[in-house]
Amino acid sequence: FTTMTEQTTNLTFKAVAPNRVDALVVPNGYDHSVVIRWGDTVVPGAPKFNVHGQTLDAQLKQFGYNNDFVAVLPLDKNATRALLVCNHEYTNEDLMFPNFVSQDALSLEQVKIAMAAHGMSVVEIERVGKTGEYVLVKSGSRPYNRRVTALTTHFKMTGPAAGSDLLKTAADPTGTDVIGTLNNCAGGVTPWGTILSGEENFNQYFVGAETSTGDAKARFNRYGIDTVNHYPSGSRKWDRADERFDLTKNPNEANRFGWIVEFDPFTPGSTPRKHTAMGRVKHEGANIIKSRDAKAVAYMGDDERFDYLYKFVSDKKVDGRNTPEARKHNLTVLESGTLYVAKLGFTSATEIDGTGKLPTDGAFNGTGTWIPLVKGGKSMVEGMTVEEVLVFTRLAGDKVGATKMDRPEDVEPNPVNRKIYVALTNNTNRGVGTNPAADEANPRNANKHGHILEITEDNDDHTGTTFTWQIPIVCGDPTDPATYFMGYDKTKVSPISCPDNVAFDGAGNLWISTDGNALQSNDGLFAVPLEGPEKGHLKQFLSVPFGAETCGPWITDDNKSVFVAVQHPGEISGASVASPASNWPDGDFAKPGIAVTWSVWNKNIGA
Ligand code: FEO
Ligand code: CA
Ligand code: CA
Ligand code: CA
Repeated sequence: FTTMTEQTTNLTFKAVAPNRVDALVVPNGYDHSVVIRWGDTVVPGAPKFNVHGQTLDAQLKQFGYNNDFVAVLPLDKNATRALLVCNHEYTNEDLMFPNFVSQDALSLEQVKIAMAAHGMSVVEIERVGKTGEYVLVKSGSRPYNRRVTALTTHFKMTGPAAGSDLLKTAADPTGTDVIGTLNNCAGGVTPWGTILSGEENFNQYFVGAETSTGDAKARFNRYGIDTVNHYPSGSRKWDRADERFDLTKNPNEANRFGWIVEFDPFTPGSTPRKHTAMGRVKHEGANIIKSRDAKAVAYMGDDERFDYLYKFVSDKKVDGRNTPEARKHNLTVLESGTLYVAKLGFTSATEIDGTGKLPTDGAFNGTGTWIPLVKGGKSMVEGMTVEEVLVFTRLAGDKVGATKMDRPEDVEPNPVNRKIYVALTNNTNRGVGTNPAADEANPRNANKHGHILEITEDNDDHTGTTFTWQIPIVCGDPTDPATYFMGYDKTKVSPISCPDNVAFDGAGNLWISTDGNALQSNDGLFAVPLEGPEKGHLKQFLSVPFGAETCGPWITDDNKSVFVAVQHPGEISGASVASPASNWPDGDFAKPGIAVTWSVWNKNIGA
């Protein structure tokens, strides 16, 4: 594959129209295939998938449910073989088990199958000829193929809060040795080739907080762990199978989730690690850019209405050499550093009326400050120890007056322009009742459709504490006056709602996937140039099947392939019974899966 064409900011593909079909729809001139779906073999020798007779033993070796984050890591120079790594965020038992009646009626084996369908998968994939298509490798030893799940021993805690009393349990008096990972949502790839995975809505797995009092109760509340009902609606009821999830018996177990997990897919059997130095929130994910002086700077969102944006700056430098010593060093880089939370300033504060109307200076924009929470291994927050700041990071953000955002999902540095892009997915509570009203960075009340925030670090110093920001895109139906697309002609842009994940192609164009389209059409993947004459010309590149959200996305280094995770096809919000809404991808019943899309003319993606 020697004739690599340079990616340009000119995206000429014809936009996919909004639709409600139960299929993955790609533009003319593109094709797609499903690389792997729920139940496919990950660990060689896995039993053949049987939806009517699924077992724990099978699920532990098969591809998990609800794939979210996707990364494709080449195993050779031309990426003819690669590792596909992905997260399995959560499970839809009503769609997984044909005999589903209720969570209460699940057998203990089924509860454990759900646990084993969480976590992460690594599989080997190979390129088809010289195209952008990839397929699953189905024979040979496949030494990297691996599952980690909610049941996997061991995950190791690192950093200043590892071993803290707040992390100790009866089963783990060291406070460093955790079983499993939960609700792995988005993530990132480190400069040294490991995966960062965000533990997001871990709160829903725990019961028993209703007997808590005082500080303990306040902490549970702040993290969305129900302190009123023994079984909050939507509770997974895993305590039936594993008393770790009963907080009356294991009050600290919940503190062992909500972390950034570093996972090394290139070392079979490696122990995944949870980095306390990066704080504990409902982590969407983490994405690193190297500062000019080689520090690892990770940008992170806490996906909750009115929660915060964070960044972590490592104490150590990244060793850029490709040697075993460098790799060993780099695996320690995220164990110590400075943790910051964002506070935004507004240039046109008095003009913001909550309708999304642009201020008279023509931009939603302003300045900002990164406020340190932990620095040099010490707490910077009055009245909180370093361990408290790292384990109850949301409370630290509250104390220092961080800016309450409209659900910060994926936060990623653009490797071309080195600016940071934040998907703020929505916040229907903005300005409602006693909730905070719109501000310049979150400019619409009852924000149904979300927006994109762009952060520019002052002097291109990602280790610094000051920045400027602006909003390039205010999502929605472009006929709605409360939308904005960098000033581009709105009659030409695609409707977009609820941005969730972002990615960049080789030219630095922004790709956005959506979750929860409030415009009554299927979710999808969109692309928009950030520079040049087409700047702001956002177009829909694909749509996912009915009931699914679009995750990933991952664009390969040669710009020939885009991978998307089709998460929860057939999930109808609020539905509590099995839904026939989707039978993607095989025509029988809905299965989450990873698809790859490529140009049939071998052009670059979107070109
Ligand atoms: Fe799992 Fe914030 O999406
Ligand atoms: Ca302004
Ligand atoms: Ca997400
Ligand atoms: Ca999502």
